[in-house]
Amino acid sequence: MFETLKKATLDKIFVLMAEYAADPRDGKIDLGVGVYKDPKGVTPVLNSVRKAEQRILDTAKTKVYKGVVGNKEFSAAVVDLALGGVVDLKRIRCVNGAGGTGALSILMNVLSRARPGGRIFISDPSWPNHWPMAELVGLKPVYYPYFDHQTRLVDFDAMMKVVDGLTPDDTILLHGCCHNPTGANLTPAQWDIVAASLQRTGAFPLVDLAYLGFGDGLEADAYGVRKIVSSVPESMVAFSASKNFGLYRERAGVAIAIAKDSDSADVVSSQMQNVIRATISQTPDHGAEIVRIILEDMDLRAEWEAELKEMRERMQRLRVKLAEAIRQRSNSKDFDFIAEHSGMFSLLGLKPEVVEKLKLEDAVYMINDSRINVAGIPEDRVGELADKMLAAIG
Ligand code: LMR
Repeated sequence: MFETLKKATLDKIFVLMAEYAADPRDGKIDLGVGVYKDPKGVTPVLNSVRKAEQRILDTAKTKVYKGVVGNKEFSAAVVDLALGGVVDLKRIRCVNGAGGTGALSILMNVLSRARPGGRIFISDPSWPNHWPMAELVGLKPVYYPYFDHQTRLVDFDAMMKVVDGLTPDDTILLHGCCHNPTGANLTPAQWDIVAASLQRTGAFPLVDLAYLGFGDGLEADAYGVRKIVSSVPESMVAFSASKNFGLYRERAGVAIAIAKDSDSADVVSSQMQNVIRATISQTPDHGAEIVRIILEDMDLRAEWEAELKEMRERMQRLRVKLAEAIRQRSNSKDFDFIAEHSGMFSLLGLKPEVVEKLKLEDAVYMINDSRINVAGIPEDRVGELADKMLAAIG
């Protein structure tokens, strides 16, 4: 039977992660997979997370099923954090997802039931998993222009030409903040324009919110998603706690559906629950419970916000340092955009052969489209990294 199968293409991010792990060279630099790293190059367990985890160990009496919707208090705390009360809670229904990807998958499945074969517009470029996820549930992915490869900023005019032409049958997938892979983001004024366009066209927004707090702060990063969900009658948001809580492998996420009224929200909720039951039956709870404890406890929440700020500011500092090091060495402002981008990533615009050379000759790993994870920049070797990059570019 298996002979009927063809070998599937694996996601380039995880292929690169395996290559990096297998590379025996000392001093290798990992700018690949999007995980935060501290100055020692370690992806830490946050102190707030450790404390919440300890509380679970000390007090949990059971590991019995939570129910199909998962940890409701976790969902409620996330809705409050991400949406900040801009939509009446009567219109909102949530289920937990296995991470942000799990949340997206539930939402896309429901979308595909509502609009079999419907078009879903995805930014060009986007996180490489968006496209296959849409295809897997039978939606039809289509690109909308997003990035100007010359300026390395958002090509907003080109984007709006397509967005303004969407129909009520179309879905648009928006990165809530910290665009992956480019690092180029919409300004608040641009979010306002996108929201007004969706109001006009009736196109349906699905917001992927995987990096809340990694860009300009929790409130600033929430501007776009809040603007969108408060402007249109129906929308969806996939929230991930993987990055901002450092809970990668715990798979904590929330699928949020916002309907026009409470009755409609109940219908969407039943569909989300039906998808979960038929796929994984229940979502994991350990990470969800950690986040719930942190967000509901004033002290732990303050500690987490401070840890999040530290991660964010470290990434911003690394951006500035790399941009400066390249500017000093090359006498050009060509890479100043690295400091202007925000979030975890920047798309450098290097040719594939340059990326390959950096990997093979210098053990510098980045995704083959030249996306770098800025948290992977070794702070004490920024000059060396700039030298290597400039030498490879030639
Ligand atoms: C990334 O983009 O590197 C991260 O979101 C990890 C992943 O799942 O792809």
